[in-house]
Amino acid sequence: MTAFQGQELIIENLAAGYGKIQVLWDVSVRVGPGEFVAMIGANGAGKTTTLRAVSGVVRPTGGSIRLGGHDITRATPTQIVSLGLGHVPEGRELFGLMTVRENLELGAAMRPEARAKQAQTLDHVYSLFPRLAERAGQLAGTLSGGEQQMVAVGRALMGRPSVLVVDEPSLGLSPLMTQTVFGALKAVHAEGVSVLLVEQNVGLSLKLAQRAYVLENGEVVKEGTGEALLADPGVREAYLAL
Ligand SMILES: Nc1ncnc2c1ncn2[C@@H]1O[C@H](COP(=O)(O)OP(=O)(O)OP(=O)(O)O)[C@@H](O)[C@H]1O
Ligand SMILES: [Mg+2]
Repeated sequence: MTAFQGQELIIENLAAGYGKIQVLWDVSVRVGPGEFVAMIGANGAGKTTTLRAVSGVVRPTGGSIRLGGHDITRATPTQIVSLGLGHVPEGRELFGLMTVRENLELGAAMRPEARAKQAQTLDHVYSLFPRLAERAGQLAGTLSGGEQQMVAVGRALMGRPSVLVVDEPSLGLSPLMTQTVFGALKAVHAEGVSVLLVEQNVGLSLKLAQRAYVLENGEVVKEGTGEALLADPGVREAYLAL
């Protein structure tokens, strides 16, 4: 029995930007219920902007986004969270002067159904990340980078999301810690959550993902199974330097 119920995320022909600067031109990505999908691309390709559009922080100027059958293209971040989106933001954005447990509890604060099950979900997050149970009373700002990333993932899970979007969890982590955090994402996926992982660690994320998309200059230029993209000469040359 899985603890979470994965839903579908469909991004179609998304366009978005910041003021007069257009960053996304044509992004179409589908994450099926319970699927693990990666989006890879160089610095500045628009990966973070795509995730910000999904969570309602950036307003799309074109295209559409659907979450579990709901059109969320024009929805607010609060509405989108309440429909089941969990966002692990680039750079983690923890409250350094609050404890691990307090940071985690904040993840449940926005959704009434998550608040009602807070104690139960917290136990579940601790079982996924035993290190966080050990460090529950420690200030988040004093954790190692990898432990902080676990808190960021755990906080998103506290909202009992049906779709989790994760932005560059390997940023600044050692190869070993990256493996640990990726192992945790694998476990989250095994719990039934649909996952959209944005990464520059192309080798590892393509191994982990069932399918993946390549984003270049705000457009999806390639898609395929993780395995097929890993074998693709263009991908190998551009992103794996092989
Ligand atoms: N708040 C902002 N205001 C103006 N421009 C922005 C803002 N955030 C991002 N941009 C611009 O949008 C473009 C895409 O940025 P984005 O952060 O989405 O890329 P990314 O693919 O996530 O890159 P990285 O791999 O470096 O995180 C960049 O040219 C960036 O300068
Ligand atoms: Mg980014």
